[in-house]
Amino acid sequence: MLPQKCKKMKQEKIRILFVCLGNICRSPSAEGIMKKMVKDAGYEDRFYIDSAGIASYHKGELPDSRMSLCASLRGYKLDSRSRPVKTNDFYDFDLIIGMDDQNIDDLRRKAPDAESLNKIHRMTEYAKNMSYDHVPDPYYGGAAGFELVIDILEDACKGLLESIFSVRDN
Ligand code: 4NP
Repeated sequence: MLPQKCKKMKQEKIRILFVCLGNICRSPSAEGIMKKMVKDAGYEDRFYIDSAGIASYHKGELPDSRMSLCASLRGYKLDSRSRPVKTNDFYDFDLIIGMDDQNIDDLRRKAPDAESLNKIHRMTEYAKNMSYDHVPDPYYGGAAGFELVIDILEDACKGLLESIFSVRDN
């Protein structure tokens, strides 16, 4: 599930990039949730966590205010600015995690080489208790969609952290 490289780089930071379409709802939430989980676990200095979007429509913007409010009520601060995925991300990150089928297809198309393809994962692949196969886009829906995004991401980020620790402890 993780690049073989992670096993070897015991002293290097694990670099994770979360990706969605606009980088104003799902991926900045995944970034905020994962950063808090890592910090609460005492491993803040061992991770570099970022997010990006397939599209650049919202470049430079803060996360959607509906998403930020929902996240803040669960204790997560979303303060990253939207940016599009760039080719160097495939070299700079160990894991590139998309939210839905379209994100995964777009990432695969953008990947510059075979090693990059192996870094692409789906957020829900790490789910522990929630049985969703993607993180639904909340942008055109109501408040319940934003709550669901946080529910799925909390569950999957927990699973992601556990999967990283299980590989690194081997
Ligand atoms: P995200 O949500 O991909 O979770 O950031 C969206 C944000 C904006 C748009 C679509 C999805 N949009 O079409 O502008």
